Amino acid sequence: MTSAAAKRRLGVLISGRGSNMLALAAAAAEPGFPAEIACVIANKADAAGLGLATARGIPAIAVAHRDYPDKVAFEQAMTAELEARGVELVCLAGFMRLLSPWFIDRWRDRLINIHPSLLPAYKGLDTHARALADGVRIAGCTVHYVRAEVDTGPIVAQAAVPVLPGDTPDSLAARILTAEHRLYSYAVAMIATGAAVVHGDRVDIDPARAGDGTARLFAPALPAL
Ligand code: GRF
Repeated sequence: MTSAAAKRRLGVLISGRGSNMLALAAAAAEPGFPAEIACVIANKADAAGLGLATARGIPAIAVAHRDYPDKVAFEQAMTAELEARGVELVCLAGFMRLLSPWFIDRWRDRLINIHPSLLPAYKGLDTHARALADGVRIAGCTVHYVRAEVDTGPIVAQAAVPVLPGDTPDSLAARILTAEHRLYSYAVAMIATGAAVVHGDRVDIDPARAGDGTARLFAPALPAL
């Protein structure tokens, strides 16, 4: 008799609208997906994503950072919630609090983030406006393991999109967000199946399972001129 492989249990940390969380939830609702969302945690009780998670039957918890005397006390409370639900992989999805070295070390190699740029370019905030100001022709998003320095860490997966004439920060953000929604569940699946394995500062990819990567290049072929 065969039994389905155990699904990796995800904890998703959000601060706001939660569209990446919803994309993960949609992927996890597919029977063959190798991970499930054990809980969603927001650092603000009014984060829109909490209600969206609850509506899908996902345990949604507010751990309000303002209720704690310091950052580590707040992070210990989140860790207690994550551990109580058997979380194995923490996914930051628009979580807007800087994490302390304590939390990053506590969840080392079990903590990933999605960032709206092709890292290591455009770390930090306002990535889309900065990319447009620089006149870049290709933008994108990155899923990476979290290390102490903001927006650094071993890269799991990236997706590229074109920057189009007339783009505004909002139009570019929307195009990248569509790519984010596809990329995050792909990256989680690679980790959950063992197709992506973090070793120190690098993620090793098993090409037999992860494909050659061309499906993550959303930019069109170059036209003849
Ligand atoms: C995304 O662009 C993500 O890359 C960044 O914050 C945004 C969160 O959006 N870290 P959402 O809450 O998932 O809709």
